[in-house]
Amino acid sequence: MKRSKSGRAWMQQHVSDPYVKLAQKEGYRSRAAYKLIEILRRERLIRSGSVVVDLGAAPGGWSQVSGQRVGPAGRVVAIDLLPMDPLPGVEFLQADFASEEGLAELEALLQKRQPDLVMSDMAPNLSGITAADQARHYRLAELALDFARLHLQEQGAFVVKVFHGEGYDAFRAAMAQTFQTISGIKPEASRDRSREVYLVGKCLRKSSGTDEFNLE
Ligand SMILES: C[S@@+](CC[C@H](N)C(=O)[O-])C[C@H]1O[C@@H](n2cnc3c(N)ncnc32)[C@H](O)[C@@H]1O
Repeated sequence: MKRSKSGRAWMQQHVSDPYVKLAQKEGYRSRAAYKLIEILRRERLIRSGSVVVDLGAAPGGWSQVSGQRVGPAGRVVAIDLLPMDPLPGVEFLQADFASEEGLAELEALLQKRQPDLVMSDMAPNLSGITAADQARHYRLAELALDFARLHLQEQGAFVVKVFHGEGYDAFRAAMAQTFQTISGIKPEASRDRSREVYLVGKCLRKSSGTDEFNLE
């Protein structure tokens, strides 16, 4: 099959990307691993023995990094729509996090343990229509925030990928209602021209309640 010009340009950029090369050299499954490594360098979110939930985990860079950090006493529970090759110390569920069944299976895997960190690098398949893609992305981010609010332990943290633009301010406000501190991190491994940013929320507010947010 012939590649489109934009497909060829993406592939050229991908193979010459320093983080792609580094991931190959250091044995990480994705360049995304370096985004989490930088976030964890700035914010100490995982300790030995931590329980971590990885939403949108495939191909597994973030799960790899988390598995190494939590050590044998910790747990990483990961979910993705796509299959993911097994990783030591990581329990993986192939399911749709946005479905009731997927959520119930994920909760069953957690066995009532309250995570120290919930992180979401989830991204929907892009349609190319910016407004629709942005709305679908924020729907996933809202579901991840609801999950974090309901399951995290009080001192726990939440990391979520979002994009500047429509929906950003409302989502950040919902984060501020849920967590005592919020910060935004644009890791070096995040491509410069992307509007992507990672929001980190720490320590649940007691008043964050149990009702679902409605950002519409
Ligand atoms: C950017 S990738 C994650 C990369 C990963 N953090 C890593 O380090 O390898 C985004 C992932 O979100 C997943 N995803 C999107 N929607 C999802 C959903 N509803 N449920 C579960 N996973 C989903 C996609 O299948 C995709 O694998």
